[in-house]
Amino acid sequence: MTRTAPSTAGAPSTAGAPAGAEPRRTVRVELGDRAYPVEIGPGVRHLLADVVAGTGASRAVVVSARPRELVPDPGLPWLFVAARDGEEHKTFATVEQLCLEFARFGLTRHDVVVSCGGGTTTDTVGLAAALYHRGVAVIHLPTTLLAQVDASVGGKTAVNLRAGKNLVGAYWQPRAVLCDTDFLATLPGREWVNGYGEIARCHFIGAGDLRELPVTDQIAASVARKAEIVAADERDSGLRHLLNYGHTLGHAVEHVSGFAVRHGEAVGIGTVFAGRLAHALGRIGERRRDEHLAVVAHYGLPTALPAGLSAEALIGSMRLDKKALHGLAFVLDGPDGARLVPGVPEGEVRRLLAGMGAA
Ligand code: GLY
Repeated sequence: MTRTAPSTAGAPSTAGAPAGAEPRRTVRVELGDRAYPVEIGPGVRHLLADVVAGTGASRAVVVSARPRELVPDPGLPWLFVAARDGEEHKTFATVEQLCLEFARFGLTRHDVVVSCGGGTTTDTVGLAAALYHRGVAVIHLPTTLLAQVDASVGGKTAVNLRAGKNLVGAYWQPRAVLCDTDFLATLPGREWVNGYGEIARCHFIGAGDLRELPVTDQIAASVARKAEIVAADERDSGLRHLLNYGHTLGHAVEHVSGFAVRHGEAVGIGTVFAGRLAHALGRIGERRRDEHLAVVAHYGLPTALPAGLSAEALIGSMRLDKKALHGLAFVLDGPDGARLVPGVPEGEVRRLLAGMGAA
């Protein structure tokens, strides 16, 4: 499994880095007048004041799941609001609380909100920014591998309902994303694995084999592939479905396990399943099917369902998936690459789930 300390050997876009310093990468999400940079590398959080200045804001609210001393000064009058990462906090109640803090501070729609934390923080703060005064600028400082490679980039924001994950949200693109790899130094092992779920699924959606790269390059390559996809299909009407590779079962596993299985872990299981399903439907051969298992295992992710999850509960949850307009739908690999496959027979899904340990 690739889980080295952040390092950036071989990164090409290092212009401007002081001699001896680890290089930084910049990926642009090209969305016309809403285009923005994703800065990746050690110390990029210190670009915050410059990015904030570029918004023209007079004040900022910084919502952070990390201690105040780790948050860089945004360079203008600001309010620090402590947040907590975790699916249980990804609720309407959190969004309402944040908007109340914005209002108490007197934030206007010409000001700026900054998120600093994992994916649940970037999602809730992003949604609060989208809703407050019908939209205020937001900058993300993702602090986990999962948030850096996926959640903070691309403008999707959401909260969970009891009925399922991410069922209510909005598209709200940030002004910039600062993926400071220094934040990753203190991540616990399970949090690394969580992020690697999203990197593993990139292998099957056109990012190439990232297994032997240093982590900064793995992040940059994952973000670059996501940026291309988002630029082509911001509102998820076709191509963007690719980013949900492994997620149909993944979201169901998270939901049915009561979030005992983390998002990236669940995406790993969902990616192995997607390989088996694509093979069972005649879309890929055995070698490609087995590559799914090998890639997921390489990153230290689980490759089978945890004990006790019922196939019926998982299928019921998958029927609620936003892509499932007609029966069960999965993003599956095939002769021309991955694409959304609707109307997948439930019997096949049930059989393969049983083979992966479903009750
Ligand atoms: N995480 C999937 C997407 O941004 O579309």
